[in-house]
Amino acid sequence: AASRRPLIAGNWKMNAGGQDACPLSAAVAKATRELTRAEVVVAPPFTAIAAVAHELAEAKSEVGIAAQNMSAEVSGAFTGEVSSGMLKDAGATWVILGHSERRQLFAETDESVARKVASAMAAELRPIVCVGETLEQREAGETLAVVERQVRAVLDELAKQPGFGVIAYEPVWAIGTGKVARAEDAQEVHAFIRGLLAKASEDLAGVTRILYGGSVKADNAEALLAQDDIDGALVGGASLDAAGFAKIVDAA
Ligand code: G3P
Repeated sequence: AASRRPLIAGNWKMNAGGQDACPLSAAVAKATRELTRAEVVVAPPFTAIAAVAHELAEAKSEVGIAAQNMSAEVSGAFTGEVSSGMLKDAGATWVILGHSERRQLFAETDESVARKVASAMAAELRPIVCVGETLEQREAGETLAVVERQVRAVLDELAKQPGFGVIAYEPVWAIGTGKVARAEDAQEVHAFIRGLLAKASEDLAGVTRILYGGSVKADNAEALLAQDDIDGALVGGASLDAAGFAKIVDAA
């Protein structure tokens, strides 16, 4: 992991909108200001992105902003959708795509995720592409096959600009459950993903950051981040507390 700058991203999910978003982003900026080894990103709900961008600019903060989803379409009659251009206008430079909650609850597929990744890359919005197996798939011994299918769907796109996009391995059974993957088990999947990237190019494999996500907390972050192929974390619940989130950033 030595040459890759760690990335710690906080996925607020459908929390901390409205009145809570600005104070939380300001607290994250303040708590992580001195921790410059890692790159830090927060992902507020759509409606709070512009306000958070304003807040972080005022604070002269380096903390970046990700959206949590995006339309693959650029504009037009798509009621309720938000485009890459709109996200950039609001102040986002990153976008989380293919989160397991979107795959499971909102019927996103490898194909729709791949379209979104292509659209984000074309708009110069940096994708954080989420992959990971369910408990059922893990128990059936399908973990690597599932992850391979999900990664292969976006491989060509990511290879167009090595290092611009990021992959997040989030075993679904570890999300919001308090059941974190053992560091060695996560490392095994991360190494496997890096091997898949290498099939496109060695360069892609060398520069792509692969984040772990799923019940990352201040007290388990260090062991995970010490693994060779774990280049950061995508943090859900623990990102809603600035001090705890900063401890994870510090562990990187
Ligand atoms: O995207 C982050 C995520 O799904 C993990 O959530 O709450 O288990 O850290 P959590």
